[in-house]
Amino acid sequence: MKITGRTKVVGVIGHPISHSLSPIFHNAAFEYLGLDFVYVPFSVRPEELKTALRAVRALNIVGINVTVPFKEKVISYLDELSPEASSIGAVNTISNEDGKLVGYNTDEEGFIRSLTREGKFDPEGKSVLLLGAGGAAYAISFALIKAGIKKLVLTNRTEEKARRLLSHLRKFFKDKCELCFLEFSRRNSPEVMRKVDLFVNATSVGMRPDDPVLIKPHLFPQNTFVYDIVYNRETEILRAAKKRGLSCMGGLDMLIYQGALSFEIWTHQRAPVEIMRKALKEKGCCVI
Ligand code: ATR
Repeated sequence: MKITGRTKVVGVIGHPISHSLSPIFHNAAFEYLGLDFVYVPFSVRPEELKTALRAVRALNIVGINVTVPFKEKVISYLDELSPEASSIGAVNTISNEDGKLVGYNTDEEGFIRSLTREGKFDPEGKSVLLLGAGGAAYAISFALIKAGIKKLVLTNRTEEKARRLLSHLRKFFKDKCELCFLEFSRRNSPEVMRKVDLFVNATSVGMRPDDPVLIKPHLFPQNTFVYDIVYNRETEILRAAKKRGLSCMGGLDMLIYQGALSFEIWTHQRAPVEIMRKALKEKGCCVI
């Protein structure tokens, strides 16, 4: 990598940030296309978020990805939001347009592209069981409803957060999709599972080998598609789903596609998705 006087800086802010895979595939893409850009991780303490955003302007950083725990909090420091970021209420990408900071959400489109292009799953008319009610669940539920699913069943350990997400969705999609709450304790019950076309784990549970296994896929019908957003390892849910012969995928493609969309916002060039994937594979990241 060659840094010059003209090199444009992009990066990611989060806390912690050292686990981020984004520098690997963004820098591989810049190099492949011969773009004079560099992608760097910034570890930002939560109390420094406002200062960090001022630094983006002051240092003329061209673009910033935003990750945990800042996706919602960052909004109050931005000048403008895309319609998606505004309705979801979370930003994962900032573009510095001549000092104006514009917030985008590419998680939504990144998820749906990964599901349809890599997973070859068409969500239209389908019944979905979604586990989780954090930032990822917000983006994924918007993506699925816009893609035309028939029914969304939402379950989460903390009931109040699931209900909050459902009432948020009702404001935007009252008649577009059937929206149901499911008690967390009933998530593995046969009468629920046998009607699921697509299951999505939108929690971070499964990142660590000793995490609890929240869903037992053996009661899903044979045509259920299992999507787990965890991307650092093959989770127990995925392993069990595979063993049963169900179609399934992990979260690495969502990571790649949301990154590819950020890349396109910053560079105005088509992202080389295959190069990005190859870079991750070479680092030993599992692409399922
Ligand atoms: P993100 O923005 O990345 O989605 P988050 O807002 O912290 O992260 O949300 C994490 C999700 O994982 C939440 O749905 C959380 O459930 P709670 O709302 O009950 O906290 C879920 N989660 C985390 N650890 C969990 C566990 N051990 N069992 C069940 N759900 C868990």
